[in-house]
Amino acid sequence: MKVAILISGRGSNMRALMDAAAAPDFPAEICLVLSSVPGAGGLAVAAEAGLPVATVDHRDHAGREAFETALDARLAESGAELVCLAGFMRLLTAGFVARWTDRMLNIHPSLLPAFKGLHTHERAIAAGVRISGCTVHFVRADMDSGPILIQAAVPVLPDDTPERLGARVLAEEHRIYPEALRLVAERRIRVEGDRVTIDGHAAPGGALVNPLPTHTV
Ligand code: GRF
Repeated sequence: MKVAILISGRGSNMRALMDAAAAPDFPAEICLVLSSVPGAGGLAVAAEAGLPVATVDHRDHAGREAFETALDARLAESGAELVCLAGFMRLLTAGFVARWTDRMLNIHPSLLPAFKGLHTHERAIAAGVRISGCTVHFVRADMDSGPILIQAAVPVLPDDTPERLGARVLAEEHRIYPEALRLVAERRIRVEGDRVTIDGHAAPGGALVNPLPTHTV
């Protein structure tokens, strides 16, 4: 399956997907890494690995529709069948999202539907939650919403800072995003309303979620 990755920054999730896809038996091929920000760190990493890269700078376009027309053109040219958002910091219009229904994934650093939006780790700590984590989901028009494919749980420790919690969550992001991409590229996923099935069964929790911590939470 040909996959385009959309980034705006350092691209560590992009790298996790790219590294997974480099394995000969991986069922997806990265056909484009596209950044909305010129000079984003991830672009150099992808180019160094020999992947096709492009920049579509939103500041060069008058409005979201014009920006997305340019995105559409790049995606069409690349032959992408699936889009993976990986730290892509532009909100997409309902029209763009509809064109990629069930063909666009996002990773978010919280256990959705909790803590949509930015500063998730600060907010998780401030809210006093004992467990946070990350989510890979199919993208719908509302920000950080859509059918959930995989989640991983990460304990929030008593002395956590947003940076420490964020680093532990990021390690789980790098684990579950390639796993989610594999499942989709193997065409084993069906989306029915808000629910995702794998091989016709409800998406399992235990098999894909890391073991919960042994201390009391
Ligand atoms: C990740 O935490 C991801 O969950 C969020 O944006 C961040 C991107 O980081 N959507 P990176 O660019 O993949 O390192």
